[in-house]
Amino acid sequence: MRSLIDIKELSLEEIDSLVNCALDIIENPAKYSEKCKGKKLATLFFEPSTRTRLSFEAAMYELGGNVLGFSEASSSSSAKGESVADTARMISCYADIIAMRHPKEGAPLVAAMNATIPVVNAGDGGHNHPTQTLADLLTIKRKKGRFDNLTIGLCGDLKFGRTVHSLIGAMSRYKNIKFVLISPVELKIPDYVKTEVLDKNGIEYVETTDLQGAMAELDVLYMTRVQKERFFNEEDYLRLKDSYILDLPKLQNAKSDLSIMHPLPRVNEISVKVDTDPRAHYFEQALNGKYMRMALILMLLGIK
Ligand code: NCD
Repeated sequence: MRSLIDIKELSLEEIDSLVNCALDIIENPAKYSEKCKGKKLATLFFEPSTRTRLSFEAAMYELGGNVLGFSEASSSSSAKGESVADTARMISCYADIIAMRHPKEGAPLVAAMNATIPVVNAGDGGHNHPTQTLADLLTIKRKKGRFDNLTIGLCGDLKFGRTVHSLIGAMSRYKNIKFVLISPVELKIPDYVKTEVLDKNGIEYVETTDLQGAMAELDVLYMTRVQKERFFNEEDYLRLKDSYILDLPKLQNAKSDLSIMHPLPRVNEISVKVDTDPRAHYFEQALNGKYMRMALILMLLGIK
């Protein structure tokens, strides 16, 4: 029995095989439409979500399985004081696999330690979001055709942005990767990501506040939302929320094959005028998330 809490738990071979499985699902959806017949996915979402929860649910339905769960903490027994450990133990009686999102860092890990079925971390606080990274990886594969020799710009809230932390964790294992970390000084990447991931893997990176200055060298530009819900005071959020707004003039000196990504939801950080630029890949990225979640469900349930 295996869970997915942190993207680093997957070997590069396993990532390749998930990507290949997702590509096969895209080509031959009918082949997969009954693979999870009789299986149930429980979506336990203690925090808001649109894409992650619904793409997990769509993934299970497209595999022929069923879904149960809740989409807010207030409608579950956690509102009565039940622990994550007890909830996970209980849900193990009703479902075959759990996808859990929680505002507390480490909650899905606690669930995995107490469940008797696989638990997938669907986002834990400002920490990690491994299945978003799977969506990002499939997007990079389909758009760039490779995982090595890339200069990746990560822009926005690098402090609280859990998608950024997981994506760095994944991409740091490929060859000749360079990161350009673009953020306001207050929202720089946490030190633990620098020491435990970037420095440990000998990854080249620069930190800057200047999106425009970095643009020309980027192969991928990963924009992020300033994570309002993680701020301690509203004043700081209001001051920082519009630090970066990607619009068409800012893309003037970008590469013609730049891939513009964003985990979504977007607030102001990408102008809607960019949406029709052929380099805008964020909506496809959300679709890719469904295919990768299908591949992951099959893998964790041990279905060939
Ligand atoms: C992200 C998240 O929840 O961390 N959303 C998502 O799952 N696609 C990004 C965000 O909320 O800004």
